[in-house]
Amino acid sequence: MDNRKFIIEETPFVKGDVLISGSKNAALPIMAAALLTSEKCVLKNIPPLRDIIIMENILNILNVKTDFLTNNCVINIKGENLSPTLDHSELMGKIRASFLTAGSLLTRFGKAKLSLPGGCSIGTRPIDLHLKGFSKLGAEVSKEFGIVELKAKKLKGAEIYLDFPSVGATENIIMAAVKADGITTISNAAQEPEITDLCNFLIKMGAEIEGQGTDTVKITGVKELHGTEYTVIPDRIEAGTFMIIGAASGEVTVKGVRPDHLRPVVNKLSEMGASVTEKSDEITVKSTGRIKNADIKTLPYPGFPTDMQPQFMSLMTTGSGTGIINETIFENRFLHAGELNRMGADIKTEGNGAVIRGVERLTGTKIKATDLRAGAALIISAISAMGITEISNIEHIERGYYNIDKKLKNLGVKIKKC
Ligand code: EPZ
Repeated sequence: MDNRKFIIEETPFVKGDVLISGSKNAALPIMAAALLTSEKCVLKNIPPLRDIIIMENILNILNVKTDFLTNNCVINIKGENLSPTLDHSELMGKIRASFLTAGSLLTRFGKAKLSLPGGCSIGTRPIDLHLKGFSKLGAEVSKEFGIVELKAKKLKGAEIYLDFPSVGATENIIMAAVKADGITTISNAAQEPEITDLCNFLIKMGAEIEGQGTDTVKITGVKELHGTEYTVIPDRIEAGTFMIIGAASGEVTVKGVRPDHLRPVVNKLSEMGASVTEKSDEITVKSTGRIKNADIKTLPYPGFPTDMQPQFMSLMTTGSGTGIINETIFENRFLHAGELNRMGADIKTEGNGAVIRGVERLTGTKIKATDLRAGAALIISAISAMGITEISNIEHIERGYYNIDKKLKNLGVKIKKC
């Protein structure tokens, strides 16, 4: 952990526009999918976030040539000299998404050796569904000494049912199926927009995929995939986070977004009394006074996104009435509640449930970010809290929010990084 902090002063009213960056959770699997060809891929709208840089380092360890033009958010990837043995254990621990290279390595070489990804503060983050999918496609899977070893002479298309619509498992299985012999069908597949984006990238590389964005994805194996250019979708979670700042503290317009990816967030903010207006690629959210607390149940897409749960909990700490949150995706995603209670919130959590009783105001104090979205939640509360708030462990926040302090300053937020 480094010891940098955000110092945020009470900012009674914020107003302005935010240009939303490319989606971290689309960019990471798409960078892994670029390994499926030895030709060059040019990826655009890639934010130079810590997780993206670490993923680039992992590709470099795989002997993949990359050139990240961070000022233009463009990364060139050429997997010509890709090497199969991947021991990036020290990096694997830093981002779990590095396991998303498994499907591509298996497809490219018929083998892969990766460090077993660890859990994180929000949950144990198992990979059993990834491994079951690889086995169904004909791979031999071994898991010992903290290493996952995959081997397959030839991957064969299969019928795969996911016990849970896991985003990562759906992505990894698709990457393992695109050049398999025959047809693979994934039932109960994840439907997140980031899955659709990955499939659209693969289709541009020459893959044959149908049903992306639904619960049944069909992949017909092809012989070869070629290089291509691709622009990833905007980050719906960054957009949602700034929309909540508008609902809580003034008026924010998020630009360069896909409103169709933000239906659950728009719906909930409207239900809570915020004013929400949409144009083709921008959404304006205005505070209309004290919001009304509501109930939230997190679900796989198109249900309410778990990655927006902490930010909504922050919003509800000073709303009128009581809100109940049921977190059904991760087993430990309420760590932000304790930090918000230190600011004077009234939140009680038990298991996957949280009860938030709205109070008049929060007050600033020293708090710490425990994970990416929890950190974003603390920023939301710090903006409207009385006095000064000091948020430590901000490297968690910078994993998923590109230039967040600059974007907040443009809204008039009194924020300093030190
Ligand atoms: C992706 O994680 C996102 N990360 C997460 O965003 C997001 O919260 C999550 O999807 C759910 O939407 C990236 O895309 C890099 P899952 P992932 O596999 O793929 C269980 C953020 O803040 N599960 O859908 O790891 C698992 O335990 C991050 O940007 C299994 O049981 O999510 C969890 O309870 C946080 N076995 C649930 O599924 C498996 O093999 C959801 O996990 C895999 C998952």
